[in-house]
Order: sequence, then C-alpha cells, then structure tokens
Amino acid sequence: MPEFVGAVDQGTTSTRFMIFDHDGAEVAKYQLEHEQLLPKAGWVEHNPIEIWTVTAAVIQTTIQRAGLHAKDLAALGVTNQRETTVVWNRRTGRPYYNAIVWQDTRTDRIAAALEQNGRGEVIRDRTGLRPEAYFSGGKIQWILENVEGVRQDAERGEAVFGNTDTWTLWNLTGGVKGGVHITDVTNAARTMLMDLETLDWDDELLSFFGIPRRMLPEIRPSADPAMYGTTLPYGPVGGEVPISAILGDQQAATVGQVCFAPGEAKNTYGTGNFLLLNTGTDPVRSRSGLLTTPAYQFGDQPAVFALEGSIAVTGSAVQWLRDQLHVITSAEQSEALARQVDDSGGMYFVPAFSGLFAPYWRADARGVIVGLSRYNTDAHLARAALEAICYQSRDVVEAMQQDSGVVLDVLKVDGGVTSNDLCMQFQSDILGVPVSRPVVSETTALGAAYAAGLACGYWKDVSELRAHWAEDRRWEPRWSEDRREEAYAGWKKAVTRSFDWV
Ligand code: G3P
Repeated sequence: MPEFVGAVDQGTTSTRFMIFDHDGAEVAKYQLEHEQLLPKAGWVEHNPIEIWTVTAAVIQTTIQRAGLHAKDLAALGVTNQRETTVVWNRRTGRPYYNAIVWQDTRTDRIAAALEQNGRGEVIRDRTGLRPEAYFSGGKIQWILENVEGVRQDAERGEAVFGNTDTWTLWNLTGGVKGGVHITDVTNAARTMLMDLETLDWDDELLSFFGIPRRMLPEIRPSADPAMYGTTLPYGPVGGEVPISAILGDQQAATVGQVCFAPGEAKNTYGTGNFLLLNTGTDPVRSRSGLLTTPAYQFGDQPAVFALEGSIAVTGSAVQWLRDQLHVITSAEQSEALARQVDDSGGMYFVPAFSGLFAPYWRADARGVIVGLSRYNTDAHLARAALEAICYQSRDVVEAMQQDSGVVLDVLKVDGGVTSNDLCMQFQSDILGVPVSRPVVSETTALGAAYAAGLACGYWKDVSELRAHWAEDRRWEPRWSEDRREEAYAGWKKAVTRSFDWV
C-alpha cells in the first residue's frame, strides 16, 4: 500500500492540495486563490476554467515540492465549497456561464416564489433545506432561463450540472475524454433536488425548477470502495490514483474533527461559519432555523445526518475590510488592529451581505454598522467584525441546543480564523464554554483524505482516525454571566436593524 493519501479542497476563495500520512499528519500542502467576480450588488461568480487551472496547479506543485509521485498516493479525496453551481458542455468542456457562488443572491425571487402552492413545505420536508437563494436548484434554473442554448443542450444530455466537486472530478478523470459525472450525498443534498430518505434526485422537486434529470450527476456515497474513477497519467497528478471520496467541505471538516458519534459538533471558520452537529442515522428536523443534511455516507453503511447552522459572512467580512475598505492589508492584521482597543466602543457590525442565513433566514437583510459615535475608530470596526463572527456562532449554537437538547461542554473549532487568538477568546467568552482547536487545523482536507483512505482500506475504521485527534489550544471563558448577556443582547438588537432592506 502506498504511504500517503491526498485531498483537493476547492474552497470559496482558494483551492489547496494536501498530502497526509498514516497518522493523519500533514506532509505537504500548497494553495492558490482565485478571483472573486462581483458583477452587480448581490452577485458573486467564479470562473470555472480558472478554478480547474488553479486546482491542477496546486496538485502538481504540492506533489513536486514533496518529492513524491502518483505511486506514493493510495487514494485521493475531493472536498469543495458547496452549492456553487457550474453548468458546462460535456462534449466541448466549456462552461456556459461563470459558476454562480453560494453567496450569490440573484435567485432570491426564484426562492421566494417557491413558497407558493405548498412547494416550500415539500422542499422543507423532503430535502431538510428551506427555499433559499443559497442552494443550487434556483441557480441552475437561472442559468437555464438566462443563458442562451443551455436548455436545449440540457434536454439532449449535453449541458450538465455539477457543484465544484463534480466539476473537479470530471476534469481530474479526463474531462471531454471520458470524465466521470458523479457527486456524493453531501453535495447532492445542497441542491433542493435530493430526497433525504431515498438519497436520490426527486422528480417532483426537479419539476419545481424545470431541471431535466439528464443534467444531473449520479449520486454516490461520500466514501466509495468502488471508486469514482482514477486520475490520468497525463493529468496534474502524473499517474493513475483512485479517487474514492467526495464530501462537501463542511461535512469533510466534521469527519476531519472525528465527530462520528451523535452529539459531537464542530464549527468551521472560513468565508462563512458552519456548525454541524452529528445527529446519527435518522435525520432530525429543525424548528429553530437549522438545516438537516447528510454528514457523510461511508460505503454501503447508512448515511449519518447532521443539524447545520450555516452563517454566510464571517471571514469574508474581514476580507471586506481588507479589499473594499482597505483598513487592513492582510486578514491577520485584523487582530493587531482590534487589539488597539479594549472593546468595540458600543459598535456592532452585522455583515448581512447575502441576507442573513441561520438561524434568521432573512433574504431581506443587508449589512449594518450600528451604535456609532464620533469616538469610534477603524480599530473598533475591526473588533466589531471579529465579534460578529462569534455572535453569529452563538446564534446557531443556541438554535442547535433548542433543536437537539444537546448542551455543548466544549466547541471544537477549525479553519482560518481560529489562528486569531483575540477572536477565539471572544468566542469562548460570548458562548460561556471552552473552545478547542486541534493540532491539524486543516480539518476539511483531512476529512476528505480520511474518507478516501477509509474507502481504499488505507485506514481500517473510524476508531483508528479518532486516535489521531489531539488538542492544540484551548480558550476558557473569562466573562461573568452578566457581561456576556449584556453584550449578546446588544447584538440581537443590532441584528433586527439589518432587516427589511431589500
Ligand atoms: O456552503 C458553503 C460552504 O461550503 C463554503 O465553505 O469554507 O469555502 O467558505 P468555505
């Protein structure tokens, strides 16, 4: 058996390739950003060709820099930004339109119209989601309705849909020369088109969006001993390596954090924040604004489900301070700037750039900064942006506790922002529970590698993976209950000020 396992993590702002060893330790990684296209207010696009070019480059560079070859890799896993929608021609390999990103709000009206004639209820019941612009179904409908020639090509099976997992897999396995058109249950579940009970596309749901079934990829388990296909000798891997896992990035992080038992949860801090709680093999329906979603399905075992609190804008609010307001020159600098002040000086920043997701689901919300006085500075703004990341996480933790009755005794965290000490201390203070970060903070790529390794027998079972998890750093709450509740009450009030803007 080869010594290592690899994982492609195709994220919202960057793509990385990572190689892990049998202890789940990082051996090599390389990442590159891709452009965020913002053609109109509320629209967010990526160029799929750029995504594939960047993916190929990070794979090739990582393998070369590590001095390894395809024969050293037992298997590959693919993990991805979920919901982001690509429609391409399988004969030419050309996308019909840019990828419409999960944060894009152009399909708000399509989503709102789904509430008519009981269709909203059917979607909630069958998919565990809510009719929202966030998910892929409306984005596919928009492309079918607005890009010339797509519907015709879709009906004759030439125009195909995929999230970026499927697009990456198709290209890795040969593209126009026989690339496979496959997704897994965790990605398919984010389209509003898959029935959670059957784990298959549902014709009634497809009819709500006018989507021909022929466009859609085959749905397979997240870790598949039958493999989806192999990489090609002339591709970026430089040889034939089986691809045996696909997982949406948040589900991959759940696996990477070894949340294999009901009641175990993780919170990932990326462009947005996503808190997932393992609820076992029965889907638990939310009454508090969370989503019900598959966490993973390994081989022929039953799918394991999660309750998910999705927050659209957290790390991307820090990027906004960097790229649009230019108050910082790097995301890391946000901590030094925020440390210049002891608190946010009464300021709250609700970064509802794509409306508000869980637990509010307010498509009509837009970002607000409130509580300003002449006293406030850019340091307060940086602090308020970091605090917003944590307040929003508290919102979804509360919803999760209401839905599941599970009271967290510690919050497992991962992702970029977890290197921000100030932010993690604030997270612990505002939650009133310890926050714990593992040694391998790249849990998303690790989870995809774990799933791929399980599928091909590189690791024998999940207990072997559990033994790899080790804590790197823990933050303990320092605030009194009164201080915590007063600060949080201010946040709740600020949130209401973001409503009714569009
Ligand atoms: O649902 C969107 C999510 O999958 C994006 O994750 O880490 O790329 O912001 P991330």
